[in-house]
Amino acid sequence: MNRTLDIIDPAIMGDETTMHALFDHLRDNDPVAYFDHPDYEPFWVLTRHEDIKYISQNNELFINNPRTVIMPQAFEQMLLAQFGTKNGLETLIHMDNPKHRKLRGVTRDWFKPGPIAKLTPMVEEIAREYVDKMEAMGGECDFVKDVALYYPLRVIMKILGVVPEEEGMMLKLTQELFGSQDPDQGRGDDMGAGMGVLLDFFAYFKQVVEDRKKNPTDDLATVLANALVDGEPMEELDQISYFIITATAGHDTTSHTTSGGLKALLQFPEQFRKLQDNPNLAESAAREMIRWASPVRHMMRTCTEDVEFHGQTIKKGESLAVWYPSANRDERVIENPNVFDIERDNRNQLAFGFGGHMCLGQHLAVLEVAIFFRELMSRLDWIELAGDPEWVQAVFVGGLKSLPVRYRFK
Ligand code: HEM
Repeated sequence: MNRTLDIIDPAIMGDETTMHALFDHLRDNDPVAYFDHPDYEPFWVLTRHEDIKYISQNNELFINNPRTVIMPQAFEQMLLAQFGTKNGLETLIHMDNPKHRKLRGVTRDWFKPGPIAKLTPMVEEIAREYVDKMEAMGGECDFVKDVALYYPLRVIMKILGVVPEEEGMMLKLTQELFGSQDPDQGRGDDMGAGMGVLLDFFAYFKQVVEDRKKNPTDDLATVLANALVDGEPMEELDQISYFIITATAGHDTTSHTTSGGLKALLQFPEQFRKLQDNPNLAESAAREMIRWASPVRHMMRTCTEDVEFHGQTIKKGESLAVWYPSANRDERVIENPNVFDIERDNRNQLAFGFGGHMCLGQHLAVLEVAIFFRELMSRLDWIELAGDPEWVQAVFVGGLKSLPVRYRFK
């Protein structure tokens, strides 16, 4: 049975169980599947770990421009007309070398493990605030809507110079951008709505740049506002796009991991107890939560030469999509992939991608998730599900929309 078309069905992709059943099927039966649907320009679907790793590390053979994320053809055409590229914006993730290397270099040092570790006290304070909030709610909350959505948002907005009063607006814009297919989150399917979301982002970050030029601090916003590329100030469009990719990539992913991580701990109570007894496992647990949740579902690449995978030829100029949650459950590489194990050696996982575009914010993401669970687990006595979890209907960045829980603090 050809199930390739299911890959764009947000109802299938927007649920952990149906999504993984589809990936299991594709990995075993159709690891290089051809996607052909009247509303989309065709592309190939790659689901095996070894193929995804190979593609991700060969950045000259598999380029990011012009197609980075799956979008309906009509939407790509509208972006092409408006922006001159099917991606719309040109952010880091849409660029190829040499420009990509130069622009990534602007923030490379800021995102290294050492400087990120210095953010620990700030992140701990925010984690404490959200665990306090959970405690104050008196034993019942929707963990996604009350906690997981806001905690990483506060962290990323703080480093991007967004004041707390504007965070709600930023959250809405990000959900509109990523959850545009979800009836509860999208602004609407029409073209003007998508464009409006981008313009709103633009207007806001332009103000932040102006402010950080006049009043520099040690945050990421200051690095971006004052960056030089080839000895010249960074182009305004590149600058604002950098804010947008960091703001969007930096919180939805981490919040889906935080909620997906708690759900996994509820599903595997012996892992919950292990973490409760040994908070030093928080960093290792965070890495396993990231593998388990794999919130970035796919990225696209376009081939610059003909390439063969498992007897199928993908021709020069054709696009393919690589599926990270599938790679992370590929039993050919990951031992017992459907077991959540907070002590697993996760060096092989691909949730952050691999190669030249590998997630710039990975150390921050691990730090945030680890700090949150260290705080929560040291204070929590017990916790259980208080209703059915719900999933965001999305094929790009996905995870939980609702996770009702009942709990008691020590
Ligand atoms: C659990 C959380 C996260 C996950 C799973 C994740 C995943 C990813 C993935 C799969 C990519 C594409 C990699 C590739 O094409 O090879 C990526 C790129 C990126 N991520 Fe993350 N990410 C997370 C958190 C963050 C955070 C916290 C930030 C920023 C503060 C961030 C910033 C970026 C940026 C800027 C890129 C583009 C890098 C480039 O193209 O050079 N991400 N991320």
